[in-house]
Amino acid sequence: MAGSESNSRPNTHLKPRTGTVSSTGVKAMNRFQGKVAIVTGAGSGIGQGIAKRLGCEGAKVIVDYVGSPDGAHETEEAIEKAGGEGKVVQADVTRLNDVECLVATAWDQFGSADILVNNAGMEKKSDFLETLESDYEQVMAVNLRGPFFLTQAFVRRLRDAKKSGRVINISSVHEDMAFPGFASYCCSKGGLRMLMRNLAVELGPLGITVNNVAPGAIETPINKALLADKPKLDALLKNIPLGRLGEPEDVAGLVAFLASDDASYITGSTFVVDGGLMRNYREQ
Ligand code: BGC
Repeated sequence: MAGSESNSRPNTHLKPRTGTVSSTGVKAMNRFQGKVAIVTGAGSGIGQGIAKRLGCEGAKVIVDYVGSPDGAHETEEAIEKAGGEGKVVQADVTRLNDVECLVATAWDQFGSADILVNNAGMEKKSDFLETLESDYEQVMAVNLRGPFFLTQAFVRRLRDAKKSGRVINISSVHEDMAFPGFASYCCSKGGLRMLMRNLAVELGPLGITVNNVAPGAIETPINKALLADKPKLDALLKNIPLGRLGEPEDVAGLVAFLASDDASYITGSTFVVDGGLMRNYREQ
């Protein structure tokens, strides 16, 4: 990455992470032995990183995808190589029927579902005044309505089985921070923030925690256009105190913590993983 160069800072601790899940030693931890996780959008980017991480730490993982199955099978293979178990399921989070089948598959295949990671997301760039209704609807359907009804289906099963559980939504720094040109995306992520807060209160009595993880600029297919535009990328890197883009593994580590026993008393909060982006302000 060019991050540390364009920030012209010492880069000894700013180098991109190159380690894989197994090289960090997490395989040995097995924190999620006996647990089942559903991860949406697990065929690429952040979702893939999360699914691999949970799977490599012992969870059985429902690897959801929509569109191309290749990435999802790659995720499943990585989990199986690490000695875990994965199951690829095609489900579009915007369709109620798909969402119900996704949860049903976890129970049918693995006997339960303990952890839900609402990761699938999309963004569409357009000036507010030019935004099409269809684009707005699609962004809201994937980013907000999807997590709403998938969480509902997930929790109904837990309630009936009298089981506790974890819900982790992958939101964005833009659940809080303006992003000109992405009003619909910001609305969806701001909505996800309030959904999380509300559900933390409603579902707490069932022993279900609900938290958001808010990534900043992570190197994934969602920002393919930005990554290919060097002037824009350099400008962004100047705004990131740690001098690099994040990697899916940076997000996955935080999600794994929130899904683990160490986080059993944490609910109703957003955890930012952005290299300092949100706190950066320079005037002179
Ligand atoms: C968006 C990216 C953006 C990043 C930082 C993410 O939520 O998906 O496109 O680069 O926030 O602004």
